[in-house]
Amino acid sequence: MASEENQNIIAIDGPSGTGKSTTAKTVAKELGWTYLDTGAMYRAIAWVIENEKQGNNQWLVARGKQLNEILGKTQISFDENNRVLINGVNRENEIRDPKISEVVSRYSSIPVIRAALTAQQREIGSKQPCVLDGRDIGTAVFPNAKYKFFLTTDYKTRAVRRLLELQNLGKAGDETLESVEKNLRERDELDSKREVAPLVRAKEAIEIDTSHLTIQQQVQRVLQSVGEAARCKHSPNTTPRLQCPIQS
Ligand code: DC
Repeated sequence: MASEENQNIIAIDGPSGTGKSTTAKTVAKELGWTYLDTGAMYRAIAWVIENEKQGNNQWLVARGKQLNEILGKTQISFDENNRVLINGVNRENEIRDPKISEVVSRYSSIPVIRAALTAQQREIGSKQPCVLDGRDIGTAVFPNAKYKFFLTTDYKTRAVRRLLELQNLGKAGDETLESVEKNLRERDELDSKREVAPLVRAKEAIEIDTSHLTIQQQVQRVLQSVGEAARCKHSPNTTPRLQCPIQS
C-alpha cells in the first residue's frame, strides 16, 4: 500500500443498487471533478466478449490468448454525458442490458481483465481530481485515497431501485422484483468471493446505509466528509478520456 494519502481521489464503493453511481456523478459535478464509472468499464468488456464468443461456451477455455487480443483492440471512452463508447461507438444502451448484468461478474473476476482496467483507472485518476465508483476503488485501485465511502442498502430497496432503473431505460422486459433481487444476490456473491480485489469495505471507509436516504442526502453526507478543500480543485476535463487501447 502506498504511504502518502491521495487527496485527489474520492472512492465510492459498494454493491449495485445502493445509489453509488448517481451519488458519485452528483458529487463530481458539485466539486467540478472528473467522474469515472468503473462498473461501466467492466460492462463494456463483458459486452465485447459476449459478442466475440457468439454463444460458444467453450470459448472461455481458451480465454488467455483471446482475452489479451480483445483487451488490446478494445478502446473504452466516455462522451460528455458519460455514455460509454466502445471503439468510438455509443454502446451505453447495450451495456446496461440485463443480459450483460447476468454475465458481467463472471468476467470481472478474471485477473487479466481486472489488471487491464485497474491500470486504466489509475492512469485517469492520476491525471485529475476524480470521483470513482466501483467495488474495489478504496481497497485495490486507490488504496491510498483520502476519501473513501462504502454504500450499503437492504435487498428489497435495491431491487426496487434497480427495477425502476430498468423500466426507465425501457429494459425491464419480463423482469420482476424477485428476478432482479436474485441477480443482485448472485452478483454480490460472485463479487465478494472472487480472489482478486473482492467487494469488501476498506476498513477506513465511511459506511453509509442508503436504505432510507434520498440521493440528495447521500450526496450531502459525502460532501460534508470531503469538506471545502476539495471544492478548490476543479478538474480541467470532467469527462474521462480513455483513448489508448487497454493493455494487460
Ligand atoms: O456497478 P455495476 O453494476 O455497473 O458493475 C457491473 C459489474 O462490474 C459488477 O457486477 C461488478 C463489476 N465491477 C467490479 O468488479 N469492480 C469495479 N470496480 C466495478 C464493477
